[in-house]
Amino acid sequence: MSSHPSQISATATVDRLPVTLPRLAEMKRLGEAIVMVTAYDFPSARAAEAAGVDIVLVGDSGAMTVLGYPSTVAVELDELLVLARAVRRGLRTPFLVGDMPFGSYEVSDEQAITNALRFVKEAGCDAVKLEGGGAASSARARAIVGAGIPVMGHVGLTPQTATALGGYRAQGRTADAAARVAADALALQEAGCFAIVFEAIPSDVAELLMARIEVPVIGIGAGPATDGQVLVFHDLLGIRDGLGARFVKRYANLQDEMAAGVAAFADDVRTHRYPAPEHGYAIDAQELSSFRDRLT
Ligand code: KIV
Repeated sequence: MSSHPSQISATATVDRLPVTLPRLAEMKRLGEAIVMVTAYDFPSARAAEAAGVDIVLVGDSGAMTVLGYPSTVAVELDELLVLARAVRRGLRTPFLVGDMPFGSYEVSDEQAITNALRFVKEAGCDAVKLEGGGAASSARARAIVGAGIPVMGHVGLTPQTATALGGYRAQGRTADAAARVAADALALQEAGCFAIVFEAIPSDVAELLMARIEVPVIGIGAGPATDGQVLVFHDLLGIRDGLGARFVKRYANLQDEMAAGVAAFADDVRTHRYPAPEHGYAIDAQELSSFRDRLT
C-alpha cells in the first residue's frame, strides 16, 4: 500500500540531515532528482521543510508573488533580506539560497561580495544565486566564490534582464542562441558555481548541455534531462491569477481556496453567524453581577 503524503513528510522531517554541497554533488552523481522550490515567508518555508525538499530559493520572484511589483527589476536587497530571514526561521534541513536582486551585484566585485555577505550574515543563507553568464556575471560569481560564499548560476531566460532578451520568452531556440546559453553555463561552471539553473530553454538543448556540466543543474522549463527541477511556490500551488508560464504544473488552487474562505467569513459576519458562543470567553455569574453593579 502506498503512503499518504503526510506520512512521508513526517518521516522526512524527523530523520533528515541538513542538505549540504557534498550531498547535492552526490545526488547528481547517483542520479537522485534534486527538488528545489522558492519560499518567501515562514509558512512557505515550513511547507518546503515538511515536504522534504532539497533546496529552497528565496527568489527575487518574491517581488511579484508576495510584494506585488510588476516585475523583478525594482525589488531592493533589503526587501529580499526581510523575506529571507523569515524563510530561515522556518527551515531546518533544505539548503537555503538567497537570490541577488537586479542592481545588487552588477557594479563591481566589491558590491557583489558585500551584498552576498548580507544574505549569509543577516539572513543565514547558505549560498546566493545570480543571473546571467556573460563576462560580468561570471566575474562576479568568481569573486563571491572567492570570498567563501557558494554561488548558484542562472542561464537561459533571466527575468532581471528580460527587456534585453526581448521579453519573457524561451531562450536558446537557434543554434547561435543555444551556443550562447552553453557559453554562459560553462563560464559559470568555470567561475566555481556549485549549481546552475537552466530556465526556459529547449529540452534537447538542455540534454546536450548536461554532458558538459559537472555541477548539479536545476531546470525550470528545460525538460527532464536536468539533475533537478524548481518551480515557484505560488505557481505550483495556484496562489496567483492566471496559469503562468507553459512549464508550470499546478498542484493546488490555493488562490481560489483563500478567496472562498475570506468570502465565507465575510458572509458569516454580515449574517451574524460569526462569532458563535464557542468563539467567546465566559465570566463567572457573580463576577458579572458585581461588574454590572459597578457600572450603575
Ligand atoms: O526568482 C526565482 O524564483 C528564480 C527561479 C525561477 C529559479 O530565479
